[in-house]
Amino acid sequence: MMSLEVAGLSVSYGEAKALEDVTFSLQHPSSLVIVGPNGAGKTTLLKALLGMVDYEGKLRVFGLEPRRDSQKLRQLVSYLPQASSVNQLVPLKVRDIVYSPQELAGESREAAERAIEITDIGGLLERRFSELSGGQKQRVLIARALAKRAKMLLLDEPFSMVDVGGREQIAELLLEAQRREEITLVIVSHDLSYFLKREPYVALLNKRLIAFGRAREALTLENLAKAYGLARLGEVYLAGEEHGPY
Ligand SMILES: Nc1ncnc2c1ncn2[C@@H]1O[C@H](COP(=O)(O)OP(=O)(O)OP(=O)(O)O)[C@@H](O)[C@H]1O
Ligand SMILES: [Mg+2]
Repeated sequence: MMSLEVAGLSVSYGEAKALEDVTFSLQHPSSLVIVGPNGAGKTTLLKALLGMVDYEGKLRVFGLEPRRDSQKLRQLVSYLPQASSVNQLVPLKVRDIVYSPQELAGESREAAERAIEITDIGGLLERRFSELSGGQKQRVLIARALAKRAKMLLLDEPFSMVDVGGREQIAELLLEAQRREEITLVIVSHDLSYFLKREPYVALLNKRLIAFGRAREALTLENLAKAYGLARLGEVYLAGEEHGPY
């Protein structure tokens, strides 16, 4: 089954194009990491997949058309927005965020309990979300995404506020959950190195899709130079150094 089919996708905000003629497809289940510089259209791509922005071209998520079938899609896809945009949950306790109403009533708590274990937030359940540190908030939101038992997780920079030890741990756990639960994982992350050993698919984006494929094929020096500009190449190269020339 295909989880994503994207063909000739373009998204504009007014006059400005954020995505231009993007084409790729992805099998289910699998893992995809989206990388590219600031303003490359990574968040916009996730929003298009969720039917949150207008687009031109073809887009299918589990065969559904995001703009038309957004209700159905919400049940299949769980979305963790980029950190700056999650404050509507402020007055809630962690417990109320991770458990759905049915689960709080005692039905099918299993997925939520496993998510709590995976993200190691058992000690935070009675705390107020607003009082947590940035990294703790991220963990809670990842737990919520896992607990929903969605077929696809869209995570927009899930590590932006997680410490280095926590990043490695959470990346492992996400990939493990991906394998065990047969979900499709789509992650926007500048910290690609945490995922490389599981050979995810990589989409290298800078408004256009510069490259798509397994990390080794997609992240060549030439492609990185194209996406980031030569001046920034050293930085990217160093970040991935221990894994080879990408
Ligand atoms: N709601 C909006 N209205 C107008 N322009 C927007 C809007 N959202 C994004 N843009 C513009 O579209 C382009 C792509 O933005 P997007 O947020 O998708 O980038 P990104 O790759 O997620 O960047 P970052 O790594 O900084 O999160 C940017 O030039 C941005 O300024
Ligand atoms: Mg973004």
